[in-house]
Amino acid sequence: MSNSGLFSPFQKDGTLSVRNRIVMSAMTRNFADQNHQATDQIKEYYRKRAEGGVGLILTEGVVIHPSADGYNNVPHIATKEQADSWSPVIDAVHAHGAKIACQLWHCGRISHSDYTGGLPPVSSTNVAAAGINRQNNKPFGQPVALDAAGIEQVYQYFEIAARNALAVGFDAIQLHCANGYLPDQFLDSRVNDRKDQYGGSVENRCRFTLELLERILAIAPSEKVIVRISPSRFMGEIYDWPDMEEMINYLLPAMWKLGLRNLDICCANANYFDTSARVVKLARPLWPGLLIAGASLTKPQAEQILADGDVDLITWGRMFISNPNFAEILRTDAEAVPFVYEMVKELI
Ligand SMILES: Cc1cc2nc3c(=O)[nH]c(=O)nc-3n(C[C@H](O)[C@H](O)[C@H](O)COP(=O)(O)O)c2cc1C
Repeated sequence: MSNSGLFSPFQKDGTLSVRNRIVMSAMTRNFADQNHQATDQIKEYYRKRAEGGVGLILTEGVVIHPSADGYNNVPHIATKEQADSWSPVIDAVHAHGAKIACQLWHCGRISHSDYTGGLPPVSSTNVAAAGINRQNNKPFGQPVALDAAGIEQVYQYFEIAARNALAVGFDAIQLHCANGYLPDQFLDSRVNDRKDQYGGSVENRCRFTLELLERILAIAPSEKVIVRISPSRFMGEIYDWPDMEEMINYLLPAMWKLGLRNLDICCANANYFDTSARVVKLARPLWPGLLIAGASLTKPQAEQILADGDVDLITWGRMFISNPNFAEILRTDAEAVPFVYEMVKELI
């Protein structure tokens, strides 16, 4: 089979350039040390994926500030020391010719005061997320809706984290605006119940993400900024933003106008064709820049999507947990080890 698609390099004006079209998707692994720093074991984990030939690694979610956390043992990038712990990881990935982007993460209400230093989690709303937080087996915490000063504070935490990530040598930062975390809590009309300029209309619900992006693009060049959104995704069942088409038609041109060039559309653990594929069809005509998407695609499916011009880079998540050399497996058509959930307990 020809490898012209997946194994061709990518570059467009103002975008990230990548040696091939294969991306390791962001995946939380809960193996950071007690100071929320990357370890030798984490370095080895990412190094092996780079050695296997992946083009771009999106790190696990890296928390921008202690008040933004919601998970056990996840890395932070609020301080220089925390950022510096990634330096050996970045060097190891670069030594194998791959790129690595740091996913900047604010959990918002998908948290609990157990994780935020005793403070209530913050959100667009003061309504708690439904269900049990599997991290501590308690209900999600009662959030406080951010006021104007609180929103400004969050932007500043993102700016500090972005500066830290760029200073230590990450090739890019990814703003995690997907999967029900803080920016998505503003975007999603089923969560955002605000009556101010950050809630209600499509324009108002996009304001938080757009203001945040504008602040980040003021300190980082366009090729180094990626935004991840998930307008259609898995959440117990398939879940779409209620006004998905209207949102995409407003949000994407607005992000483009601000100077964003790298966009990642994800769908959590859903079937790609039921979710992101529908979003990509709406997004592609609005997005001449770098478009990233995927979820457990077969190689022929990925090649077809690239050939159709629907997306530029393809993400795989779980296959990279079960196969450190997954890019090599794609290249050689070797048999992949299937992912089973038990595998998340170990970092191989
Ligand atoms: C264990 C695990 C952890 C994940 N953590 C994150 C995360 O930190 N940030 C994120 O944006 N997506 C996260 N995801 C979603 C993946 O990036 C990806 O979108 C999803 O697994 C679908 O791709 P796949 O079908 O190829 O696995 C996670 C998925 C898994 C399985």
